[in-house]
Amino acid sequence: MTATLCEPALAVTARLAGPRPTWERRADVIVVGSGVAGLSLAHSLAGSGLSVAIVTKATVGEGSTTWAQGGVAIASGVGDSPEEHLRDTLVAGAGLCDEAAVRILVTEGPAAVDTILRAGAQFDTDSDGRLQFTREGGHSRARIVHAGGDATGLEIQRTLEKAVHNVDVFEHAFALDALTDQYGAVAGLRVGRLDENGNCLEVGIVRARAVVLATGGMGQVYASTTNPEVSTGDGVALALRAGAEVRDLEFVQFHPTVFYRGPGARGRQLLISEAVRGEGAILVDADGERVMAGAHPLADLAPRDVVSATMAARMARTGVDHLYLDARDLGEDTLLRRFPTIVAGVRSAGIDPVTEPIPVAPAAHYACGGVTADMSGRTSVTGLYAIGEVACTGVHGANRLGSNSLLEGLVTARRLATLLKAELPPQRAIEDTSIAGSTIDAGARLELTVGMARDVGVMRTPEGMRDMARLLQKAAPAGDPGLAAWEATNIHTIATALTAAALCRAESRGAHRRSDITDRRDEWLRHITITARDGVLSTGETA
Ligand code: SIN
Repeated sequence: MTATLCEPALAVTARLAGPRPTWERRADVIVVGSGVAGLSLAHSLAGSGLSVAIVTKATVGEGSTTWAQGGVAIASGVGDSPEEHLRDTLVAGAGLCDEAAVRILVTEGPAAVDTILRAGAQFDTDSDGRLQFTREGGHSRARIVHAGGDATGLEIQRTLEKAVHNVDVFEHAFALDALTDQYGAVAGLRVGRLDENGNCLEVGIVRARAVVLATGGMGQVYASTTNPEVSTGDGVALALRAGAEVRDLEFVQFHPTVFYRGPGARGRQLLISEAVRGEGAILVDADGERVMAGAHPLADLAPRDVVSATMAARMARTGVDHLYLDARDLGEDTLLRRFPTIVAGVRSAGIDPVTEPIPVAPAAHYACGGVTADMSGRTSVTGLYAIGEVACTGVHGANRLGSNSLLEGLVTARRLATLLKAELPPQRAIEDTSIAGSTIDAGARLELTVGMARDVGVMRTPEGMRDMARLLQKAAPAGDPGLAAWEATNIHTIATALTAAALCRAESRGAHRRSDITDRRDEWLRHITITARDGVLSTGETA
């Protein structure tokens, strides 16, 4: 059940501006995005006879998957069970996971990993050729499989790029808006083709029976993030403009251990995988005093929301902007074997993790919320599907358990492929091809993302969130259509919806922490939903 929750409603862009469409194509299935979820879907649809087009705004390998370090959680190790994986996921999710969705995730996970191994992925194994399992925060067992030590996403991306065939790939193509029939069902996509500098060359229409959002996350809504440049929340913004419901946006996971390069660091930052703490590294302050001792029974391996909030509180109390991850006890051999990417990245910044603690601070990492979808990708709008980080299926609740995200992409892509093979919607007549729209000035992006980090970050105050809402409502429409303006507009839309949701949730739970209400409240054991109509957001709630 949905009911109106918080007023007044905030405004976002109703439709992205772009030139009149000059070309047209068609495909049975359009996939927007080319990371683990989108490519797995294309791979699973092979041989189905369905024509598939992939639309991606940069080149195929530029999404978050390529950067994913940790691995994939599966309960296949000796003594482990899906039931235990389920339990850990529910605990991390702080009361807001959908248990049935999590059950699907943990029981179908091993088969999904098997599919990627059969497609040629090389995961790390022991001397007997058995998969190696490591541990991360919130997991009661070592159950994370990985590749290249700390380069799991890269291996999955490489494998899928090689395995996907017979698909039309549109690179440098920006999904502007969904096109709908007279009843609001999605029947295609308006796409802007870009030159290498992000200027709009032309706009076209792709008609399709199913439009699948697999656009990944929204970390770039914050000034500092582990996400790559492309993670600007495009799928969630497009879904809102298409009339779809989004949910749980206030739950942005801040990864505790992100390499700290100084107060002015902007954009993608180097992640120091949780698996480094899984191997024994500890968080300390400048005096070498442990940060997590006594804060949680799992100490440094507590769920991420707990670690980030504990770090934020320590930093605020002592007036510093970073702490340290001490990995020296792991020794050079382990560090180099297990974490070659991290060691190289940290060394290139002048810190040797073998002999020095690594400066770290929390940064935006993962969107637990997104487009409301079931475990087969169905959204609230006919013809529109969402899988991977862009979706909110309920498996992450208020705080995602580490290494459940690549897993979710693999599992939901397989399920959606099965669904589309069985019941692809009919091609609908596109009614609305209007081109009237607007964009936010790309020059506003920096101020918005810095404001989000300051006011809607790890620790939130009501005054800060209200200031941010005011700043967002002042952003004026301007700018020429093109990558910079479209991304800035999507960032503005996401920041507005996220701030609205955060203002509503009058408690601290999972990744949403308020300084004025620091406890969980039973009456908030529900989800905040957001929809948009003609560019006006309305918030609701659902059990
Ligand atoms: C990490 O390696 O710490 C990140 C993995 C994840 O976010 O699941």
